[in-house]
Amino acid sequence: MRVTINQVKEMKAKGEKIAMLTAYDYTTAKMVDEAGIPLILVGDSLGMVVLGYESTIPVTIEDMLHHTKAVVRGTKQAMVVADMPFMTYHISLPEALRNATRFIQEGGAQAVKLEGGVTVAEKVKKLIDCGIPVMGHIGLTPQSVHQFGGFKVQGRTPEAAGRLLEDAIALEEAGAFSIVLETVPTPLSALITQKISIPTIGIGAGIGCDGQVQVINDILGSFTDFVPKHAKQYAKIADIMSSAIAEYFGEVKSGEFPTDQQSFSMDESLLAKLTK
Ligand code: KIV
Repeated sequence: MRVTINQVKEMKAKGEKIAMLTAYDYTTAKMVDEAGIPLILVGDSLGMVVLGYESTIPVTIEDMLHHTKAVVRGTKQAMVVADMPFMTYHISLPEALRNATRFIQEGGAQAVKLEGGVTVAEKVKKLIDCGIPVMGHIGLTPQSVHQFGGFKVQGRTPEAAGRLLEDAIALEEAGAFSIVLETVPTPLSALITQKISIPTIGIGAGIGCDGQVQVINDILGSFTDFVPKHAKQYAKIADIMSSAIAEYFGEVKSGEFPTDQQSFSMDESLLAKLTK
């Protein structure tokens, strides 16, 4: 049985910290699931760390579905949350419903995440009324990077801080089961966390959140274009991969690879007949 939204909400009530990590493929999702991480996000960050775009904006619903299916196949216990990409939930309520349905029905995800607060609350409520669990996402919402004028810390003025609190309350009232707070000053996310009953999951939002989420490529050190300030590298996988690739390249060139160990034999008499 996979982790449920009620279990996630209970973790906040019990004061148990919630860990979430992104995954985009079968192999990685399997490792995250086997580690016992309760929430796996198929984030549209895949646009940058997997597909090589400069932002999440070019990511399509087909891209997201393709990766969501792979992550679902690799997992048994974690709740899989799929990110709804840019403009797949803004144009109209029926379109938001149709697109969210695809993530649950075709993709096999257990919940969707969408960016925005007050402005998307009505859609969030409708999705939930239809049985689709929703995780909110406020603060630095990367799909609005052009509107923000870059990847900037949010909520630093009294007005902006007040708006973020209103956004969080609107999402809670709409029925979201949790909210990602991205790049928000630590005291503000701690305040929002106290004011709402559903869990906050921070990324660059400090220790006062109920949980934390990170992009797996950042914590493994496999994405080398840049390292966000909010990320801690628990490994430098890129270095290990580069040296393995270089070693393989060298061994193919020198004829050291493959050896008999990686090769297959056949009946000598059969070979003799063929070479007569
Ligand atoms: O797309 C993503 O990975 C995200 C996280 C950064 C929260 O939205």
